[in-house]
Amino acid sequence: MRGRGLILAIESSCDETAAAVVERGARTLSSVVASQISTHARYGGVVPELASREHLRAIVPVVRAALAQANVALADLDAIAVTSGPGLAGALLVGITYAKALAFATGLPLIAVNHLEGHIHAVLLNERESAKETGLSPYMQPPNEDGALTPEGNLPAAGEPSLALVVSGGHTHLYLAHPTANTWHYVLIGRTLDDAAGEAYDKVAKLLGLGYPGGPWIDALALHGNPRAVPFAFSQIKTKLHLAGKAPRTKAAKTAPIANLDPHFLFSFSGIKTAVLRYVELHNLRPEAEARREALFTGLDAPAQPTVEDALATCDPQTLDLIASFQHAVVGDLLKKTFAAQESLGARRILVTGGVAANRELRRRFTAEAARRSVSVAFPTLALSTDNAAMIAAAAWPRFLARDFASPSLSADPSLALGG
Ligand code: KG4
Ligand code: ZN
Repeated sequence: MRGRGLILAIESSCDETAAAVVERGARTLSSVVASQISTHARYGGVVPELASREHLRAIVPVVRAALAQANVALADLDAIAVTSGPGLAGALLVGITYAKALAFATGLPLIAVNHLEGHIHAVLLNERESAKETGLSPYMQPPNEDGALTPEGNLPAAGEPSLALVVSGGHTHLYLAHPTANTWHYVLIGRTLDDAAGEAYDKVAKLLGLGYPGGPWIDALALHGNPRAVPFAFSQIKTKLHLAGKAPRTKAAKTAPIANLDPHFLFSFSGIKTAVLRYVELHNLRPEAEARREALFTGLDAPAQPTVEDALATCDPQTLDLIASFQHAVVGDLLKKTFAAQESLGARRILVTGGVAANRELRRRFTAEAARRSVSVAFPTLALSTDNAAMIAAAAWPRFLARDFASPSLSADPSLALGG
């Protein structure tokens, strides 16, 4: 039966095939994620052609599992939502084509969602789920007497903006997110000029002979090193070259313009990756990294699923100090620029989301700094930090209420920007 506010969302922008059913943007009935990590791990990063092939394989069973776990049929749904960008073109196309076919076959409206907006809504979904338990969420107000879903009473009141840091393998972006009368409005405040923070984690892990994705390995091993052993520094970013009209260097930098951004809120993570490489060469740590990769991942005696203890056993104290120092510097830079933006904009609420938001040191230091400044900070649960489709369904809900539907000619936009 339609009218419950059920959205089936599909996410396939990178290396996870995901589908979820969420009620009224506030109650997750199911969230299924098929990870391709094992496919890409041996290459140390995502291989786009393999990603598309794996999405093709996974999309039907993943959507079926999401419907079955939610205990709903296609006939119960009110809309289909899909990530339309940014991401890998071929990967996005698999989700979009499937969502369009489903929408066409069922006659349901199709809603296009920006992946970055999805990450922001991962935090909001968590907040709505806990508010619902206490009866506070405006999202969960019941439908009208006739059962119709109307915008009145179903959207957050125009309220205070939040500063959102989206920090993942593909993105490091700062937005001011405003809930307006009938939707959300985003203003880009800062972003990376080159690598995303998660990309730096993955590249450093790779050069140290650790697994893919590198973030969770570095997160776990950093606990055993001295974060002040190697004083990595981030210099103040100079935007002149970019402002002179030079093309941005990486995919992450292409998703948003930088012309009017305050250089204090711009990030750059390619330098620290090079600094770690120099340190490794200077201290002759490369043979050790190669031995570690062999012992953990490629050698004949490598364990089927290496654990943190396995990795620890292959790291000397100098490597652990390097790992801890790298993480300390990256988190410190994210912290410094996010709170500089918070202060400059007078934001009282910070949301940190995306795969890197799963990081323990990041959560601890952001929480402590927010408390020191008497502002609030929120993170998604670990499952909602990395890519998933529940966040896409949550972001689609205000668009559903606003009848902001996609055209049947919707196509993938690999460098889709969010906000102005
Ligand atoms: O959001 P996500 O799943 O995909 C993208 O949209 O990119 O983020 C994946 C990224 C990877 O770079 C991964 O290394 C990083 O998030 N990551 C972490 C942690 N867990 C995942 N980085 C640091 N610490 C973690 N615990
Ligand atoms: Zn993501």
